[in-house]
Amino acid sequence: MAERLGREIRVSGIRFKSNVLMAPLAGYTCFPFRLMVERLGAGSAYTEMVSADALKYNDRATEKLLFTDEREELKCVQLLGSVPMVFERAAKSALLERFDIIDINMGCPVPNVVKAGEGCSLLEDIPRASKIIEACKRSGKTVSVKCRIGMNRQRIVIEEFARMCEASGADMITVHGRTRDMMYNGSPLFEYIKLAKDSVSIPVFANGGIFSEEEAEEMMEKTGADGIMLARYGFEDPLIFSRLTGRECGDTRYSLLTEQLALSQECFDEFFVLSYIKKLASYFMRKMPGTKQLKAALYKCGNITELKSVLAEIFSA
Ligand SMILES: Cc1cc2nc3c(=O)[nH]c(=O)nc-3n(C[C@H](O)[C@H](O)[C@H](O)COP(=O)(O)O)c2cc1C
Repeated sequence: MAERLGREIRVSGIRFKSNVLMAPLAGYTCFPFRLMVERLGAGSAYTEMVSADALKYNDRATEKLLFTDEREELKCVQLLGSVPMVFERAAKSALLERFDIIDINMGCPVPNVVKAGEGCSLLEDIPRASKIIEACKRSGKTVSVKCRIGMNRQRIVIEEFARMCEASGADMITVHGRTRDMMYNGSPLFEYIKLAKDSVSIPVFANGGIFSEEEAEEMMEKTGADGIMLARYGFEDPLIFSRLTGRECGDTRYSLLTEQLALSQECFDEFFVLSYIKKLASYFMRKMPGTKQLKAALYKCGNITELKSVLAEIFSA
C-alpha cells in the first residue's frame, strides 16, 4: 500500500514534519520562499544549487544563496560540483555549519554542467559519484542525493546508482523520474523510481511531473516512494503543501505575496525583491485567464510602492 502523503518521516535522526518536500530550483528557492513552504507543510526545502567550488570565494552571490536564519527549522543546502575534495572542503566549511542536510546535485542536465562532469553526468561516473558522497559524509552531516534515472532510455542506470548511493553512505535519495534527454518534459518513468525504491533501504523520494494533488497520489501509488518532492508546481501553487499535508493555513495567494514581499525586503536588496516577487506573482498567474496586460504592468514596476499597488489590483479581489 502507498505511504500516506503528509506523514512525518525521519531521515538518519532528522525529523521531516512531512514527506512532501520542496525541490531546489535555481533562481527561485530563496530563503523567504523556503520559509513560506515550510510553514505551509513542506517537510524540507532546499536552497538552489550552489557551486561547491565557489564557496571558497565567499562572494555576495553565494552569500545570498546561503542566506538563512533560525526561523528556518530544517536547513538544507544543495551543492553542485565534480571533485570529491572540493565537496569535502565545502561540506566542512564554516559557511555550511548551520545547514542540517547537504544534498548533492546529480541530476542537472544543462550542457555546461554536464560538460564539466557535474550534475547528471555523475550518473555515468559511479566511482566518482561514490567518492563525492563519502567526501560529504566526512562532514558528519546528513547527506542526500538528487539524481535522474539515466542519460537516455538506452542508458538507464538508476538501480546500480541507487545501490551505490546507499553503499557510499547517502541517507536519502530523491529520484527525478526522467532521463537527461527528457530535460523537464514528458511523464516521469514511474517504474524506474519504483526500481530505485525497491533496490535500497534508505528513504527514496519521487520527483518529476507532479502538477496536482491527483498526480501526487499517482506518484506515490505507482512508485511506492517514501514521499514526494514538488518542484515547478510548488512554486506555482505553494498552497498545495497545505492541501497535501492537511495543514490548515487560511492563506490566499495575495496574503502569501504580501508576506513574501515583507520578508524578502527584510533580507535582501530592492533589486532582488522586485525580481523575486515579479517571478512569484507571474507563476501565481499562470492559470488565471486574460492576464496579459496585468502581467505587463507587473513587469513594468520599478519600485516597491508600484509593485504593491499592482499586486493589490491583481490579487486582492
Ligand atoms: C528553473 C529550474 C531550476 C532548477 N534548479 C534546480 C537546482 O538548482 N537543483 C536541482 O537539483 N534541480 C533543479 N531543477 C530541477 C527540479 O528540482 C526538478 O527536479 C524538476 O523540475 C522536475 O520536477 P517537476 O517536473 O515537478 O518540475 C530545476 C528545474 C527548473 C525548471
